Amino acid sequence: MTEQRADGSAGDADYGAIGSTYSSYRRPDPRIAETISQALGDARTVVNVGAGAGSYESTTLKVTAVEPSRSMRAQRSPALSPAVDATAEQLPFSDDSFDAAMSTFSVHQWGDLEAGLKEMRRVSRGPVVLLTCDPVLVRDFWLYEYAPLVLETEARRYPATSEITGVLGGDSTVKRVPIPIDCTDGFNEAYYARPELLLDPAARQACSAWSFVEPAVQEQYTDRLRSDLDSGLWDERYGSLREQPTLLGSLVLIRAVP
Ligand SMILES: C[S@@+](CC[C@H](N)C(=O)[O-])C[C@H]1O[C@@H](n2cnc3c(N)ncnc32)[C@H](O)[C@@H]1O
Repeated sequence: MTEQRADGSAGDADYGAIGSTYSSYRRPDPRIAETISQALGDARTVVNVGAGAGSYESTTLKVTAVEPSRSMRAQRSPALSPAVDATAEQLPFSDDSFDAAMSTFSVHQWGDLEAGLKEMRRVSRGPVVLLTCDPVLVRDFWLYEYAPLVLETEARRYPATSEITGVLGGDSTVKRVPIPIDCTDGFNEAYYARPELLLDPAARQACSAWSFVEPAVQEQYTDRLRSDLDSGLWDERYGSLREQPTLLGSLVLIRAVP
């Protein structure tokens, strides 16, 4: 189990330390939001677990948000309902309380994945929808060449999709989600065509895997990226990505119905 921190962060990352600028860099992307909306189908009531600042919460549905970190709860827009201070592993709701349950970029941080997924299954009468990354695909991204420990950390943290679907049971699908070239949600792969943006320390801080790597090592990684951008080497190798409208990377949407 992960120890609970001063701001209430219950996962493996300390959002009291790294979460303060999260919502400026991790703005929900409308095209990814549409994919999630389709997966939720005709649900009217939805629980969003590990809701953070409220990314991907529909304002037309009745959404109950669950978020343990005070720093993340504080960044929620006043247009959204305040989040319940709880964890995935112990959802304070009775069985079948919601039409659907969702979670975005969160399952990899939970102290007890199985308990959290079983709780999501328990409280949803319908689909459980998860936006996450497939650990098998994480190292395929060009950033692996520059920041190997960051992507090793990602690959280690993200649960295998088969583990997730196995715990959720029922009928499940795992679909890769295309990442748009101008994706507004700044996870690492969102910058596939805009490598310069990863030179911004605050952009990196909004991707929690960087917080597991020593600052001196991060500096080595970014120095090399900067140097390859300055010399044109990055563009020689990967420049065609600057024109590629979407990337099929490690981002996946898992949907399981009972
Ligand atoms: C990368 S953020 C994603 C936030 C939001 N869902 C989004 O897509 O922007 C991960 C979130 O999961 C939350 N989290 C970590 N461990 C958790 C747990 N055990 N139960 C519920 N939420 C958790 C963190 O506090 C953080 O807000």
